[in-house]
Amino acid sequence: MDDALRTRLTAAAAAVRQHAHAPYSGFAVGAALADETGRIHVGCNVENAAYPQGLCAEAVALGVLVAAGGKAVTAVTLVAGQGRPATPCGGCRQKLREFAADSVPVHCRSVDGVALDSTMGALLPLSFGPEALA
Ligand code: THU
Repeated sequence: MDDALRTRLTAAAAAVRQHAHAPYSGFAVGAALADETGRIHVGCNVENAAYPQGLCAEAVALGVLVAAGGKAVTAVTLVAGQGRPATPCGGCRQKLREFAADSVPVHCRSVDGVALDSTMGALLPLSFGPEALA
């Protein structure tokens, strides 16, 4: 991921994190996704009094990307956690995999700036993706 895109994605994820609805966990998450045209799509977690109905930030951002006509995820940035960056949960790794190739960079950053860089393929090895059904 080039530095300019990383900066934009990090700023977008940090900004949308401020809108997280996380009254139950107190754990706010912001996600920013680049699509194949370079557009950035954002999402935050949206919790619910019926706990299992809550949405992860990545799922919200994916819905926004698809609704905007995006076809692929080319970079992922997550901003969450203090001292240790949060990485995408297992379910979100699979959700992201639907639109992201193994090579897609996943940049995780804590609120206080600790960074962890990975890729889709490293986070979800030997994954079951759309090509499996082609
Ligand atoms: N959360 C996300 O938004 N994304 C993840 O990948 C991990 C967890 C949210 C769900 C819940 O609102 C809060 O973080 C605590 O689990």
